[in-house]
Amino acid sequence: MITRENELLVLVIAPSGRDGAMICNLLTGNGIACIPSTISDIARTELNAGVGAVILAEEALGISEIAILAAHVSEQPTWADLPLLVLTLAGAVSAGNLRKALARQPLGNLVLLERPIRPETLVSAVQGALRSRRRQYLVRGLMAERHVAEQALRKAEKLAVAARLASSFSHEINNPLASVTNLLYLIGVSSSLRETQNYARVAAQELARLSEIVTQNLRFHKESSKPVAVQVSQIVNAALDLYKARLAAAEILIERDFRECPLIFGVAGELRHLILNLIANALDAIGRGGTMKIRIAGAREHSNGSRLGARITIGDTGSGICPEIRNSLFEPFVSTKGDTGTGLGLWVSSEIVRRHRGTIRVMSRAHPPFTGTVFSVFLPSHPNWTPVHPSGAVHDYQSETMQLIG
Ligand SMILES: Nc1ncnc2c1ncn2[C@@H]1O[C@H](COP(=O)(O)OP(=O)(O)OP(=O)(O)O)[C@@H](O)[C@H]1O
Ligand SMILES: [Mg+2]
Repeated sequence: MITRENELLVLVIAPSGRDGAMICNLLTGNGIACIPSTISDIARTELNAGVGAVILAEEALGISEIAILAAHVSEQPTWADLPLLVLTLAGAVSAGNLRKALARQPLGNLVLLERPIRPETLVSAVQGALRSRRRQYLVRGLMAERHVAEQALRKAEKLAVAARLASSFSHEINNPLASVTNLLYLIGVSSSLRETQNYARVAAQELARLSEIVTQNLRFHKESSKPVAVQVSQIVNAALDLYKARLAAAEILIERDFRECPLIFGVAGELRHLILNLIANALDAIGRGGTMKIRIAGAREHSNGSRLGARITIGDTGSGICPEIRNSLFEPFVSTKGDTGTGLGLWVSSEIVRRHRGTIRVMSRAHPPFTGTVFSVFLPSHPNWTPVHPSGAVHDYQSETMQLIG
């Protein structure tokens, strides 16, 4: 990776101009770019671009200078750890020295070099420091690349969400539209007023259904992305409503087991999306004539400090998860559905669960005669909501587990 101009520049801070000039001459002679500097120069410099390492004479580092430097160093980006080389004065350990050593602790990546120091020792220490700085720049590059890739995935995720909502919306409005068309035809050919009135009444009911579906879809898009208190059963019922026609057409039986459950503090639109994804997958796996069982219950999650929350379990009597994808199930673009699946559903779902600091687990059996899958999502009531860093850098809890039986 090519580093930016001056990124390997060494700043030399020595109160005696002669020391500073000598060190600079030595380093320049060994091909290392360096300039004499001061603590206030460093405080003005962006530590993520422009400094390779800093050499400081101990006498330039009083308690107040240490405080300035420590404040600046603490603001470094996560990948950065600026190397500081401190040239100490020779002599016995004094109380003052010990105090300074303690005060220097927040400076992080600090190496003490005792004077008098041999020129080649200083050069090799600086080269080592710059090597570690180059590695930091490499990590910065990788983080930037990862961020770009994640942005692209996020965009793809949004498109997939829109496509999924659009197709489920089209599917839902198709049935009432077809009925209204038929009823209008029947009204046109009917000779009896009573019959005509009957057709008109049913057509009005179908139109009311249409308007309900449209309103619900509009609400999806208008919903705020801020976390609010959410009743999980409402979310599940709204999601099931959206699949009402498809469930009926495929003769799939829904068993609801909704128990007492605390409110969840979360983003309603995201949670609805999560449930829609899991239900859609269960429907695809069942095909025709099976059962989907949805249980909601208050629960404690023992693996993470006995947090209180809700457990949503969606079980289906479908085909079971095919073993080839079991290890990559929650990764993007993993699908067995060819052109009809983007393979983003479970990845998006696990991201939503992760943002809500919950867990998602799955058990599945793909060997006949008994096949099926159970997804179990735990959502804590109070997830101590903190905005997740755009790079998704929150990894302090488990997001997925997979158990395959048979
Ligand atoms: N309940 C389930 N039963 C069986 N297989 C499942 C189930 N849920 C998920 N899968 C498998 O996991 C794969 C990935 O699911 P995912 O939801 O991520 O993508 P998809 O459903 O293929 O596409 P889409 O992006 O449209 O959701 C599916 O293709 C399917 O093979
Ligand atoms: Mg899916």
